[in-house]
Amino acid sequence: MKNVGIISVGCYLPKRVLTNFDLEKMVDTSDEWITTRTGIKERRIANKDERNSALAVHAAKDALKRAHLDPAKVELIVVATISPDSNFPSVSCLVQKALGAKKAAAFDIGAACSGFLYALTTAKQYVQNGLYKNALVIASEKITNLVDWADRNTCVLFGDGAGACVLAPVAGNRGIIADYLHAQGEFGELMEVVVDNSVEPLTQEKHKVHKPYLVMQGKELFKVAVNSMADAVEIAVQKAKLKLSDIDCVVPHQANDRIISAVAWKLNIPKEKIFVNIDKYGNMSAASIAVALYEAIEQKKIKRGNNVVLVTFGAGLVSAANVVRW
Ligand code: UT7
Repeated sequence: MKNVGIISVGCYLPKRVLTNFDLEKMVDTSDEWITTRTGIKERRIANKDERNSALAVHAAKDALKRAHLDPAKVELIVVATISPDSNFPSVSCLVQKALGAKKAAAFDIGAACSGFLYALTTAKQYVQNGLYKNALVIASEKITNLVDWADRNTCVLFGDGAGACVLAPVAGNRGIIADYLHAQGEFGELMEVVVDNSVEPLTQEKHKVHKPYLVMQGKELFKVAVNSMADAVEIAVQKAKLKLSDIDCVVPHQANDRIISAVAWKLNIPKEKIFVNIDKYGNMSAASIAVALYEAIEQKKIKRGNNVVLVTFGAGLVSAANVVRW
């Protein structure tokens, strides 16, 4: 079996910044509440005409450029998203068209905030078994489209963005050395976007009154999140035949800085080893880890030979972790 690694990363963040002070003018909230309860100071919001697929294309181009990979040579495109431009065509097909990646197979994965790691693990199998020579994995979200801007419980938490990476065989003992994917459907009601068109067709009349907003039971989700992320790290590290003390850097999903701190405390991992950028972007769902990984590399928090853990949880509930030897 080939070792498969992340040979480049890319990123795109919309220009528009929405600060906590801006939100103070929109709902009954305060910078102090948002900062102390979540760690978020600001987030990016895509413009109305800036579609999810456009964010994905920017991040993809960045990753391909850094990998010196011609789009015409890309063999597989997997996009993790829960906020696609439309039900179909998939975002991955829109990206394939925009890149001119004519040779590539393309599909989307919907695993909410765990989407990037689900996509990474899925795409890795295809490269590992030799079906494809490389894969472009993108996590892209225009999640703020699903947010009710009058609901202070949720609107302060989310932001838009995209991250991408290129997977290819790597030499030596490097690469993605352990994978763990998990699902707990019994907790599905803790975070939902309900569209009841599976029961009754969505008529034009219903469409006018019904906006499929994101609803969340934050407190309950918090507890499950801490336990699932801590379990996922332990299992993935064990699968990699490593100890927690061998881990140089953890890149977690950025939903709440208090969740990240609780996971660090539970696993007895020093917070300095954990990469956090939630203050700048909030929760970008699937894109959070992809963007955090990009920034951790840029800031040299991840160096050649390091053992890196990527870990996440999200609506579903789904959790996942990967160990990557850089
Ligand atoms: O990617 C996965 C998705 N999401 C998550 O992982 C989220 C997990 N949960 C959380 O991060 C936290 O539970 C929240 C940040 C969502 C909420 O923090 P909390 O410490 O659990 O607060 P709470 O829900 O217990 O609310 C405490 C109070 C309530 O007021 P009362 O009932 O005590 O009077 C809320 O109404 O804070 C109030 N509150 C706010 N106040 C000011 C809720 N949102 C806000 C707000 N500004 N934006």
